[in-house]
Amino acid sequence: MAEKGSEWVVMATGRSPTNIAVIKYWGKRDEDLILPINDSISLTLDPLHLSATTAAAVSPAFSRDRMWLNGKEIPLSSERYQKCLREIRKRANEVSDEKKGIKIKKEDWENLHVHISSYNNFPTAAGLASSAAGFACLVFTLAKLMNVKEDLGQISSIARQGSGSACRSLFGGFVKWTMGNNADGSDSLAIQLADEAHWTDLVVIIAVVSSKQKETSSTSGMRETVQTSALIKHRAETVVPARVLKMEEAIANRDFTSFAKLACADSNQFHAVCLDTSPPIFYMNDTSHRIINLVEKWNHSEGTPQVAYTFDAGPNAVLISPNRKTAALLMQRLLYQFPPNQETDLTSFVVGDKSILQDAGVTSMKDIENLEPPPEIKDKVPHQRFTGDVSYFICTRVGSGPRVITDETLALLDPVTGLPK
Ligand code: DP6
Repeated sequence: MAEKGSEWVVMATGRSPTNIAVIKYWGKRDEDLILPINDSISLTLDPLHLSATTAAAVSPAFSRDRMWLNGKEIPLSSERYQKCLREIRKRANEVSDEKKGIKIKKEDWENLHVHISSYNNFPTAAGLASSAAGFACLVFTLAKLMNVKEDLGQISSIARQGSGSACRSLFGGFVKWTMGNNADGSDSLAIQLADEAHWTDLVVIIAVVSSKQKETSSTSGMRETVQTSALIKHRAETVVPARVLKMEEAIANRDFTSFAKLACADSNQFHAVCLDTSPPIFYMNDTSHRIINLVEKWNHSEGTPQVAYTFDAGPNAVLISPNRKTAALLMQRLLYQFPPNQETDLTSFVVGDKSILQDAGVTSMKDIENLEPPPEIKDKVPHQRFTGDVSYFICTRVGSGPRVITDETLALLDPVTGLPK
């Protein structure tokens, strides 16, 4: 066991981004190992606006593994958490802190317990991919704490066993999850296609759509699709492999037209296989459909894609513009069609990179009221405004992968007791 008495706590803190798939993962060939039936591709979103921060601590004084999520203790008993902990522990190495006189030997890790505290800088209930950032951060931070030497690709295949989409959050920029062939899942991991500096013009606007309906979880939704949909086989075997190649090419060439066509088509096909599931699964709602119409009408009137849309297992829209100018025009259209309720204030209605609002010429609620209908719908009366149907917008961009946080004041666990601060 470590050299000192039982009073010490060793801690590591990490921050991991969330990601949005532009070629979707939907369907597993192995439920236990979380092995997918097709490759997928995602954009990592800027951790400044959407990320999980996790602190992990170890001490001989801890009697069991414990975890707190957004300040509330949660059970670690689920197989997904257990697998991540087990796989990381297996790869742990010696850790020594000479200044504090602490030395943890490789074999000590099997008997030491950890405390983990994690929080998301965006509302978990908003239906944004919180499990992707959460599991990526858990595995990344534990790997740092335990001095795991494996590369990020291998670490991503551990995060995959927490939640499939989490493996893509181990890298910044543009990421592919290769489905792999091995039965043990060792080659089902994330690889970076290009880092966040590759295509910096892209602007991402997320419309958080109000939804009262309880959604089917991704895990059970995709299980039902694999069991009952006739279309999913065609998607996984024929459509996605061709799309993945084209999407890689579009990203490499920063070809927004191809990127947007592929992303929209793939989102629509994912929702089509959900509808082809028995009983059918509806993730999008009327507001989601209105957002698709808004974008499609605009894209059609310009003759070339101005914006790409994609929807995960929920009604929120993720809209990707090729540059700030188009993002400002998109913002005007969104605010025209989905103005906030009277009592909402603008600073909480558009969050993240608010400078897009200035570009859109909107600095007050009055400006939103006074917006003109966009030209592509101008002559098509009557056109309606759907007040309050979007809860808020998050403006962000493609961002970096997980990072260690060294600023101890930001740590979520008390360095002496190892309990949440
Ligand atoms: C629609 O990764 O949440 O967001 O592996 O069962 O945890 P599990 O599912 P999860 O599914 C994500 C599905 C998706 C598409 C995607 O992110 O590729």
